[in-house]
Amino acid sequence: MQLDLFNDIDQDEQTQTEQTQTDEKAQIEALRAELTEANRLYYVLSAHTLTDQQFDEKMRQLQELEARHPELYSPTSPTQQVGSDLKKQDSFVQIEHRYPMLSLANTYSEQEIRDWYNRILKEIGRDQQPEIVCELKYDGLSISLWYEQGVLVHALTRGDGTRGDDVINNIKTIRSIPLTISRQRFPLLPDRFEIRGEVLMPWESFERLNKERAEQEENLFANPRNAASGTLKLLDPKIVASRGLEAYLYYYLSDNPPAATHSGCLSFARQMGFNISDAIKVCKNINEIMQFINYWDKERKNLPVATDGVVLKVNDLSLQNRLGFTAKTPRWAIAFKFQAEKQLTKLERITYQVGRTGIITPVANLTPVQLSGTTVSRATLHNEDFIRQLGIAEGDMVWVEKGGEIIPKITGKQQPQDAQTQQPYSFRFISHCPECGAALVRDKEQAAWRCPNEQHCPPQQKGKIEHFVERKAMNIDGLGAETIDTFFSAHLLSNIADLYDLKKDDIAKMEGFGEKSAQNIIDGIEASKQVPWSRVLFALGIRYVGETTAMKLARVFHSIDELRNASKEQIMTVEDVGEQVSQSIQLFFADPANLSIIERLRAAGVRMSMSDEELSSLNQAASGTLNGQAIVISGTFARHSRDEYKALIEQHGGKNLSSVSRKTSFILAGENMGPEKRKKAQELNIPLMSEDEFLQLINNQ
Ligand code: IVH
Repeated sequence: MQLDLFNDIDQDEQTQTEQTQTDEKAQIEALRAELTEANRLYYVLSAHTLTDQQFDEKMRQLQELEARHPELYSPTSPTQQVGSDLKKQDSFVQIEHRYPMLSLANTYSEQEIRDWYNRILKEIGRDQQPEIVCELKYDGLSISLWYEQGVLVHALTRGDGTRGDDVINNIKTIRSIPLTISRQRFPLLPDRFEIRGEVLMPWESFERLNKERAEQEENLFANPRNAASGTLKLLDPKIVASRGLEAYLYYYLSDNPPAATHSGCLSFARQMGFNISDAIKVCKNINEIMQFINYWDKERKNLPVATDGVVLKVNDLSLQNRLGFTAKTPRWAIAFKFQAEKQLTKLERITYQVGRTGIITPVANLTPVQLSGTTVSRATLHNEDFIRQLGIAEGDMVWVEKGGEIIPKITGKQQPQDAQTQQPYSFRFISHCPECGAALVRDKEQAAWRCPNEQHCPPQQKGKIEHFVERKAMNIDGLGAETIDTFFSAHLLSNIADLYDLKKDDIAKMEGFGEKSAQNIIDGIEASKQVPWSRVLFALGIRYVGETTAMKLARVFHSIDELRNASKEQIMTVEDVGEQVSQSIQLFFADPANLSIIERLRAAGVRMSMSDEELSSLNQAASGTLNGQAIVISGTFARHSRDEYKALIEQHGGKNLSSVSRKTSFILAGENMGPEKRKKAQELNIPLMSEDEFLQLINNQ
């Protein structure tokens, strides 16, 4: 009796669970449909059917439900636009473009636009006026989106115009790109079509990203185009999603287009939910075209994204076909490029900055002037030669330009109207360092003047410490440029060896620091004593000894003493090391200040030679454990970086390959191995080797 009772309860629970599951499945489907439609309406009508908050809340609900039901995973769910952990990959698959991705003929001249228009008039007979669609030329990266049965299946970069990288997982993070298009709503949707456009990083996202990078002391992106391009190449869509990319679409391609005109195709695409700009005009004559160009040349400053011109396209698709293509560009389209915005202003003073390697950079201090919405008061003058080529001096009126770059540049000077006011050109570069007073020396290779006072010139001293603690060097956390500057001013640090004398209490006493942050710095410094010799060599900051050169040198010279005692010729036997590098190494060791720093580092426990483990793995290289083997690396690893594995493979006589083929001997497979590579490996029966197995193989021979 009791048993039955329990059974009943169990069954009840089971039915309830099933019920919840069906409910949740329905909820998932409803949320997916609602969010997809809200996106579409937003891009078709600019209509917010949901507030941002509602949208985010529904997205969060959907994410939660999907996390509970991995069996209901769908690559076209709107949650995929937030970036998914599942999608980390290790490289992009290349795919051939169905239609080659060509560029556009472009011009800065109004006359050439008129000539182009007249050529088209001639082609169709002068009594007809062809419609020309004017659009903005977006300054980003072109992308080609492939849809099959209404589903986004590939997103290809231009590549070499014939083949592009499939960056679909990154593209999916762009909210304005529909992942699916309802075939019920669009019965005329062809089985397969392509739509092309531009991926951009809006100014706002760009400025935010660069601000974050400045805080992290990472290199800044010069302009939104570079930032968008760097972002699209990232392998982790989660990071891509956080960068806020945008896409504008401008070219619909299909074997059976939905309209007879380009503008008709774009309207159809807008109906489907694609982000098609409103800044489009079907022009009936050349005057309307010129009006469009002149209007947007001024108005583009107020757009959220970078544009660099106007694209003109023949509207009628059959006329487009008649005009056809040259080898590189369509005859039915042309781009008019805007002149970079420039202003005339006074060069008040030239000041000089000293970089971390002692290079002196002249800086123009200008009477503040408005340019592309920002006030410009400084611009780089690069070096003495640059100033002389422009023939400029303090007091001159100069042209300042700001193209797609964030850093303004000086492009020339205004010639005085009156020839009599012209004086012979005289300009003198400074002869002494503005920071430490040392006499400057001319660096021939870099066409620059340099302060030779490496040990006692403050920006150089701080620069050396900054370089030493960098991630790729000693990787000491908690010591950014600002902290180094503070410690330097407080006389806690004046060179890299001082780091190892820092006391926790001294740091904790400084303003803005506490017990915890002080301990973190001390821990970071302690951990740096485990950094291998090759990276220590790089961290020392010897001129011309970059990361790779340091690695190559360390493989030959197993300790600092061996390197120090080597002759110039011996050093030059190392692969890719020429006279300049060799000489710079010798100069470094000839300076007693450097020798004393090295001794202090050695005494503190910093590695100045190869560890036994490194040595034995090097010695095995000669045994050629991997001789004749072709190896593909895929995934992420716990014990060494990919670059380190690549170097290990080479050291042991193996060859690195980037893609899996019949020739592949085995795959060194880490976490999250790329799905394409895994599939290919299975098809070709190529064995996979784990990180540990691989290390065992090379260490136990
Ligand atoms: S149409 C066959 N329209 O400019 C021509 N291109 O310099 C198809 N671009 O490769 C391109 N805005 O990356 C077209 N409204 C626009 C554009 C545009 C920017 C880019 C595109 C193209 C490049 C040519």
